[in-house]
Amino acid sequence: MQLSLLENSEPRLNAENRAKELRILLQYHNQRYYQLDSPEISDAEYDELFRELAGLEERYPELVTADSPTQRVGGAPVDRFRNVTHRLPMLSLENAVNDEEIVAKLDGRVKKELGLAENSPVSYMCEPKMDGLAVELIYENGTLTAASTRGDGVTGEDVTQNIRTLHGLPLCLTGKDVPPLLEVRGEVYLSLDAFQKINRDREENGDPPFVNPRNAAAGSLRQLDSRITSRRPLSIFCYAPGFVEGVQFSSQQEFLASAAGWGLPVNPLARLVDNVDGAVAYYHEMQELRESLPYEIDGTVVKVNSFQLQRELGEKSRSPLWAIACKFPPRQAETQLEDVLLSVGRTGVITPVAQLRPVEISGVTVSRATLHNWDELAAKDIRIGDTVVVERAGDVIPAVVRVVAERRNGSERVVPPPEFCPECGSGVVRIADEVALRCMGISCPSQIRESIKHFASRGAMDIEGLGDKVVEQLLSLGLIHTVADLYRLTKDDFMRFERMGDKLSSNLLNALEASKACDLSRFVFALGIRHVGARTAKTLAQAFGSLDNLEKTTLEELMSVRDIGATVAQSIFTFFNTPDNQSVVRQLQELGVNPAAVAKTVGGRLSGKKFVFTGTLTRFSRDHARKLVEDQGGNVVGSISRKTDYVVAGDEAGSKLIKARELGITVLGEDDFLNLLESL
Ligand code: IVH
Repeated sequence: MQLSLLENSEPRLNAENRAKELRILLQYHNQRYYQLDSPEISDAEYDELFRELAGLEERYPELVTADSPTQRVGGAPVDRFRNVTHRLPMLSLENAVNDEEIVAKLDGRVKKELGLAENSPVSYMCEPKMDGLAVELIYENGTLTAASTRGDGVTGEDVTQNIRTLHGLPLCLTGKDVPPLLEVRGEVYLSLDAFQKINRDREENGDPPFVNPRNAAAGSLRQLDSRITSRRPLSIFCYAPGFVEGVQFSSQQEFLASAAGWGLPVNPLARLVDNVDGAVAYYHEMQELRESLPYEIDGTVVKVNSFQLQRELGEKSRSPLWAIACKFPPRQAETQLEDVLLSVGRTGVITPVAQLRPVEISGVTVSRATLHNWDELAAKDIRIGDTVVVERAGDVIPAVVRVVAERRNGSERVVPPPEFCPECGSGVVRIADEVALRCMGISCPSQIRESIKHFASRGAMDIEGLGDKVVEQLLSLGLIHTVADLYRLTKDDFMRFERMGDKLSSNLLNALEASKACDLSRFVFALGIRHVGARTAKTLAQAFGSLDNLEKTTLEELMSVRDIGATVAQSIFTFFNTPDNQSVVRQLQELGVNPAAVAKTVGGRLSGKKFVFTGTLTRFSRDHARKLVEDQGGNVVGSISRKTDYVVAGDEAGSKLIKARELGITVLGEDDFLNLLESL
């Protein structure tokens, strides 16, 4: 790149101009390196320019701009990510898994909706489906000002600081006609090389490796400390516009070309095809190419090219009618089953796990795979010594799909289901209606170990640094027996560990301290109640608002919560009414663990208020009404009790209305309800 002023850096050039030039130069070389893969200068030369800019900015801090390449190194850690509501929802895609589905679910439907003849061609943009995580970037007047994760499609997390560390992404758009506002969506991913390097480093540090590049990318992007993100070489491809002002794209092709023109990385493998046959051919081509790509793709995405037609087609239940994800079949490999190990989970379920001769499947070495359960093992007639087909699909744990029976030589051994728990020797039972075998040992060390690991894990209390290995050491040193003991640990306790210095111990104690102020939903999930996954925990947190309410709830009340059926309700009820569990929960509270309900529930004007809807509603649906209440922090419950605040009665409200009157609860008509909401 030649910039006339840049040929010399004489003192007459003032610092401001020079800084500006350096920024342009560095961005240009960044792009050559990261996007075009054809650097013009050496790393050392780049570093020299970078240092010069950093030096200028240090001397004149007022010269630091938001788009300066020096701002990519990450800033101070944050406590939590701020929630961001996307201006336009980030939709997902319907899947097709073979040629016929691509034709029927996309082309067939498109033509039907548009009233086109079957043989009239529709032109499609075909793109690799990147296996990473979706983000939204906002460029205002060409400068990257915000970035967020997709989240649930409506609300994501503010990851601006972290996104700034992506070297391949311009902090400032270049080229012609940069619009005043450009929201653009794309996929953040890790190359296979980067993924393998991260895992090598993690294993050296004793951290568990990431299962696949996508998890590694997600884990890296969702770091509260952006300095960690900056050390993970994340990349991005942009693939769709969001809300845009000042420019109109007529097609996906035009969008991709404009984005590339402004310096945004777009996948060079995107291709416009004339008709659905072209899209099918592309799908096959990419499946072949997949093996030699430096990053993971899990399919292709086919989009109607014309934006006019896209608008006409619209969307249905959170996915557009104008696009489809064509998923590749999962990757498989053959290897030998060396042994069948028994793993005891936190609920006592004993799962057979395949120990395999290590085999590489798409850049990941697989040496363990799940065999699901003993019925499956018998049904597939899997024996030790067998040659087996192993599959790795997306983020699921590798699984043994089948035996290659032709390879048997007669030395293979059948594995009978265990009669005793391999960890504690207690009897094993098979509970009616379940395929699982379960250890009945009430103090089985394996169950205790797994439930403590679960409590501390990322999706649960997210106690940074308290990984599986640390939990195992704490248990073997006899320092903990229940999750409550975690909060009794002292620095001296940690210092007894191998390879645990002053700093790591302090970090762990800080992380434990920080976890005391957790979300109620995380806490409920962390308790490891059977049948209560992260989603149900969220539902419970929203419905009950506080741990106290949840502990005191009745079975009836639990069953009236949306999405909670009888089995789940019973399991929750039993959990909170078991003395041992009550004691641990009480100890946790006494030790300062103070789970708070999600902001949405506590912040609203109907916070903590309980509503019951009864009769036939004519002004709005029940689902809509529930949403209106929940948006304001209130709860909708199914049955009336003294704790109910309002009963909203539609037509022909029967016994509930009578009961409400008896209990003196405020009864609202549908209009009163709407007035109440408006008055908030
Ligand atoms: S377009 C409404 N294009 O796939 C269309 N998505 O299941 C929005 N993805 O959440 C998506 N590569 O994370 C689109 N070239 C591509 C993509 C892509 C990967 C992901 C994206 C999205 C998911 C949809």
